[in-house]
Amino acid sequence: MLKLDKFERYPLTFGPTPIEFLPRMTEALGGKVQIYAKRDDCNSGLAFGGNKLRKLEYIVPDAIASNADTLVSIGGVQSNHTRMVAATAAKIGMKCVVVQESWVPHEDAVYDRVGNILLTRLMGADSRIVPDGFDIGIRKSWEDAIQSVKDAGGKPYGIPAGASVHKYGGLGYVGFAEEVRAQEAQMGIKFDYIIVCVVTGSTQGGMIVGFAADGRADKVIGIDASGTPQQTREQVRAIVDNTAELVELGRKVRDDEIVILNDYAYPAYGVPSHETNEAIRFAARTEAMITDPVYEGKSMQGMIDLVKKGYFPDGAKVLYAHLGGAPALNGYSYTYRNG
Ligand SMILES: Cc1ncc(COP(=O)(O)O)c(C=O)c1O
Repeated sequence: MLKLDKFERYPLTFGPTPIEFLPRMTEALGGKVQIYAKRDDCNSGLAFGGNKLRKLEYIVPDAIASNADTLVSIGGVQSNHTRMVAATAAKIGMKCVVVQESWVPHEDAVYDRVGNILLTRLMGADSRIVPDGFDIGIRKSWEDAIQSVKDAGGKPYGIPAGASVHKYGGLGYVGFAEEVRAQEAQMGIKFDYIIVCVVTGSTQGGMIVGFAADGRADKVIGIDASGTPQQTREQVRAIVDNTAELVELGRKVRDDEIVILNDYAYPAYGVPSHETNEAIRFAARTEAMITDPVYEGKSMQGMIDLVKKGYFPDGAKVLYAHLGGAPALNGYSYTYRNG
């Protein structure tokens, strides 16, 4: 039994997210592998939801206990994470400063006006665009923003990119694994593989710890979308170790239990390949399931390719973790102008 309940959780989500069978996608991919999705993209009424809210549920109690008045975080211009931090701040009555770095070499006339950044501004966050490039680590621009809140007499609470290298960043997705186990018992089935997009690492890291409890950590297949897989892998490793200790897993997760595939992030973080775009269209046209060009489109691309390559044995049940992210599509209006 993992010791997750000893950590306080501030509810930001509706509760367990639905798992649905995807019959048309299953059929279109040959019918030998059964494809399901767990819809964390539909997990909350807060500003379209997504994976960060599961993480933030375990971080908010610490932020409140610190007597902070301002959440300070960081991401790219079209960051889902900064949208979710802005939503959380609004919901708990705090101010919010978010640094939006220029992570993506993508040009679209409305890129910095629509989607995530529009919603972030709408919720009252102080959104600061800076020119620094992509990096999932601790950033000077973020430390500067924290200092600027102090200088103005405020009390900042820092949340790093993706809420990942926060001490409690991995707990939310330990909860995801517990939730899947309970749903499997209700549904009378067991998933053989879980597909998840990985960039800053605490989504997959939390899942790995959660599924290590019943020996399935290596069935969590991370699809890298960072394009800097070495750094992502190291970050996942560190998050797994810290989270395993927090929830008292009782053993060290082995390196071979951390599975991350690097084949789908090309050409760069935030830039969809032809194959990513085809995967996005495929999910939309078979199941009306909307994925984005930065994250879920790449994990969708990876899952489709793995099914086609015979990576999963016949009869396998594959659970696609849909983590959200659709608002970013608006920043790619020209790419999808014809569908
Ligand atoms: C929609 C979406 N999918 C996947 C990810 C990757 O999750 P993580 O950063 O925890 O690896 C993110 C955030 O980075 C995201 O916003």
